[in-house]
Amino acid sequence: MLCLTSDTHPDWAAAALKDPAALLADHAQCEKKAALSAISLTQAFADDIETVNELAAFAREELEHFQSCCEHLAKRGWPLIRAGKDPYAAALIRAATVDSKYSLMDRLLVSALIEARSTERLKVLSEEHPDAELAEFCRSLMETEAGHYMFFVRLAGRVSSPELAKIRLAELALREAQIVAELPHSSRVH
Ligand SMILES: [Fe+2]
Ligand SMILES: [Fe+2]
Repeated sequence: MLCLTSDTHPDWAAAALKDPAALLADHAQCEKKAALSAISLTQAFADDIETVNELAAFAREELEHFQSCCEHLAKRGWPLIRAGKDPYAAALIRAATVDSKYSLMDRLLVSALIEARSTERLKVLSEEHPDAELAEFCRSLMETEAGHYMFFVRLAGRVSSPELAKIRLAELALREAQIVAELPHSSRVH
């Protein structure tokens, strides 16, 4: 179902789980950024109230994920580390703008890829996290993020055409695999 052209490296989970507090804090920040990005995307759909409503519902869901992450952090006495740069997302945007300007379709497809990789990695974490409660939390998030991937692919098809979006998604997925392979493993989702 996911468009990804590579699996996460088998060593990634052990590296990410070296610091579960940092991993969860980073994930919380990713959820917050997803909510903010959806709110900002509503600007591009000012004439399409149906899509604005869908984006608002999406943003609410990501904000709930952010809140759940914060509750798990608080329960363990772990801090919400301030959001830093996101080299993965920055590299994806650079990859999408190498040969063209950053179109709305590309913006939506970059979001789709981020959701797809999150889904794939949350699945790995749901199987390998030593904290049973956090493993279950990752499993529950994974199911929603898979739906988010589909949502963005559908939206990208709506602003161009489903065929064009599919072709471009395949191109960007190849670049995404390269980016993910080149990034060092650390206690972050991407
Ligand atoms: Fe989420
Ligand atoms: Fe999501």
